[in-house]
Amino acid sequence: MTTVRHLDIRPSVLYVGTPVMLIGTVNPDGTPNLAPASSYWALGWMLVLGLENDGQTQRNVRERPELTVNFPPPGLWNAVEAIADTTGRVDVPPAKAARYRHVADKFAAAGLTPQAAQHVAPPRVEECALQLEARVARITDGLGDYAIVEAEVQAVHADPRIVAPGTDHIDPRLWEPTIYSFRHYFGIGGEHGHRPTSDTAGAGA
Ligand SMILES: Cc1cc2nc3c(=O)[nH]c(=O)nc-3n(C[C@H](O)[C@H](O)[C@H](O)COP(=O)(O)O)c2cc1C
Repeated sequence: MTTVRHLDIRPSVLYVGTPVMLIGTVNPDGTPNLAPASSYWALGWMLVLGLENDGQTQRNVRERPELTVNFPPPGLWNAVEAIADTTGRVDVPPAKAARYRHVADKFAAAGLTPQAAQHVAPPRVEECALQLEARVARITDGLGDYAIVEAEVQAVHADPRIVAPGTDHIDPRLWEPTIYSFRHYFGIGGEHGHRPTSDTAGAGA
């Protein structure tokens, strides 16, 4: 067997592959903001999100601690890109000025449709088959350019076409997240296996 000699490298980012989400929040004037993000994981029904300090999204959740998290399908990657270099901040931060521009209506800029949420003020994204409504529980500062935002999920909305019939379970063979890996967008390939504890192991197989 040949031993691989790994290279010691310093990539500009360590985005190894996390789901793309569109975060809905409410601006000071009551209009919705929408921002692509990918720093996500879930501990039970507590979301742990990484939000940059100079974004309107972080400002919004500090002042109005509610958000929606919407997962676009891979086919909507260009809608995500359409608002990737935009900010809800009227005062575009100096560090972003070269590439970013202020956009007041990011739903329109992305060609996406706001859908009223049921438990929080920010809207959901109608085109996303999986949508979460959440309330901010804690914000942890002191992490350089980012804060860690913990948010408790209040409701999960799923298109019936991704739910195993008659259950509360997302069937992962019927749903596809967009994965952000080293600044490229991917879908997910075929299944390689599943945990013995999968809720949907037998479904459709
Ligand atoms: C695919 C993708 C993933 C991103 N992930 C994050 C993220 O996890 N956290 C974050 O704060 N910004 C992330 N960004 C950057 C924000 O979308 C960007 O800074 C935007 O200007 C924020 O908008 P806002 O100022 O209206 O909040 C990501 C952007 C893209 C395109």
